[in-house]
Amino acid sequence: MIDKINDLIGRVREFHPTAAKEIEEFRIRMLGKKGELNAIFEEFKRVAPEFKRELGQRINELKNLTNERINELRTQFEEKENAASDSTLDMTRPGTADELGSRHPISIVRNEIVSIFSRMGYTVADGPEIEDDWHVFSALNFPPEHPARDMQDTFFIEKNPDILLRTHTSSIQVRTMERQKPPIRVICPGRVFRNEAISARAHCIFHQVEGLYIDENVSFADLKQSILYFAKEMFGESSTIRLRPSYFPFTEPSAEVDVSCNLCGGKGCNVCKHTGWLEIMGCGMVDPAVLEASGIDSRKYSGFAFGMGIERIAMLKFGVRDLRLYFENDVRFLHQFDSAIG
Ligand code: DAH
Repeated sequence: MIDKINDLIGRVREFHPTAAKEIEEFRIRMLGKKGELNAIFEEFKRVAPEFKRELGQRINELKNLTNERINELRTQFEEKENAASDSTLDMTRPGTADELGSRHPISIVRNEIVSIFSRMGYTVADGPEIEDDWHVFSALNFPPEHPARDMQDTFFIEKNPDILLRTHTSSIQVRTMERQKPPIRVICPGRVFRNEAISARAHCIFHQVEGLYIDENVSFADLKQSILYFAKEMFGESSTIRLRPSYFPFTEPSAEVDVSCNLCGGKGCNVCKHTGWLEIMGCGMVDPAVLEASGIDSRKYSGFAFGMGIERIAMLKFGVRDLRLYFENDVRFLHQFDSAIG
């Protein structure tokens, strides 16, 4: 009997049908009512008890193998059939077009800002998003009790107050000054993080561009002229700017820059809240203490810095009213920028 079983196992393994109907015939021959397996089970009843265990296992093996082989062959033949019916597809039917991607509005505006400043001789500098206290605060003259050092405003890593996500790209200023000797003329785009509730006007992740120019005899007039050039290139030749006194720990004097509203031409509208002006960036002369902290002689060199939010510039340029749209990646929003070059 064991020879019979072994012989059947061999036959199952060697079964290679050439047509699907052979599989069904094989199944009936093996597993059908009058099939080989039932015959073996009949014989099994008469086997002496001491041989039952081993023989029983072997019969089960045969049964399982037969089932597996049949299932395997069935799927093989089904796949073959599907492939064959595919070849009857109508090849003249129009295909589905590949969707063409476009640049994100934030990238478009970032590239444009970089390109405008590169025409004035600026090169791009980069720095890490995970920073230390020194590069984000201390070297930039932030006093120890400054609110930005609070957990409410800044994301700290693992409760270690020295490691944090940068809250502004001004940290790249410090890294550049530590690395390079003047003259320095860099533009630093990057992602920044603040512990803010997400709304139409604020997000916990956004993008900034920082600018830094350090040389001998750099003056406030140079700063003003550079920003005027930027505003005209970005918002149109007829744009003008105005500077309002402000305060930043790392610049002295400091100013806030407004550009004339390009939507109403300065007459006053909803977007500029009827003032005719739109705030676009902060700027100022680099505080001598900041130069010294990074090893630059403040008696020999002076410089200016400025910083702007890319989302803000993009909102003004494209008339986007809700900051959250930049992060949702809804293609209906993104496709509106298909034709913008950047
Ligand atoms: N770091 C400032 C901020 O995040 C922006 C800024 C203001 C940068 C004035 C500057 C500057 O370089 O001079 O709000």
